[in-house]
Amino acid sequence: MAKAVKAVSKTAKVSKAEEAPNTDTKVAVAADVKAEPKPAAAKAPAKKVTAKKAVAKKPAAAAKAPAKAAAKPAAKPAAKPAATRKPAATKPVAAAKPAAPASAASSALKIDIGISTADRAAVVKELSKVLADSYTVYLMTHNFHWNVTGPMFKTLHELFMTQYTELWQALDDIAERIRALGHYAPGTYAEFQKLSSITQPASVPDATTMIELLVKGNEALARTARAAFDRADSADDQPTADLLTQRLDVHEKNAWMLRSLLQ
Ligand SMILES: [Fe+2]
Repeated sequence: MAKAVKAVSKTAKVSKAEEAPNTDTKVAVAADVKAEPKPAAAKAPAKKVTAKKAVAKKPAAAAKAPAKAAAKPAAKPAAKPAATRKPAATKPVAAAKPAAPASAASSALKIDIGISTADRAAVVKELSKVLADSYTVYLMTHNFHWNVTGPMFKTLHELFMTQYTELWQALDDIAERIRALGHYAPGTYAEFQKLSSITQPASVPDATTMIELLVKGNEALARTARAAFDRADSADDQPTADLLTQRLDVHEKNAWMLRSLLQ
């Protein structure tokens, strides 16, 4: 936006500069005609001259150095309109002004949603663990979708896809809830590894072990979400509590479905 404004002001300057020679020559002609009564006659029309003309004079003088040099003595009496020049000269500066209030406003807009700063931080701390565990279970489920083998391939390949697809969307909801609470969401492998309570296998397990690992992963995630729910509930944070209730429902159901495959 600021660039656009600058661009506009530049084009405005150009158009003024293009007009300027005309007005400049007019002014120069007028100055030549009234060259004889320089001090008195120049002052009188100068007062009547509108601010626009005074503005047109300035860039023209700046563009044409020789003309300016010639008009130097005449420019001195025009020092009075300099007061009227100022507002015109501040126009481009005024265009830059909106940027300052915008940044000031953003820093001044503190979060005031009825949850204290300390409570928001505490809820975010728990939500970040839920996000890390969710990302870990997501990645493990997708990994197993790719690499599962054996007679249960089709069933597990499709079941894993259903689960990782749902998890992928949930990651966004959890991270954006953290943002709504005024904090940055963790988003790197290093952060997730540090925050997560779930360990992934170092190599590709067999199908049965995949199911067992995902049962344990979903159950661990449910425990993390339950702890986060308790913190959100005590902070009177209904949206987070609602989100975590949904996550609990999903992961307890996933664990049940996976567990059932082994019975
Ligand atoms: Fe796939």
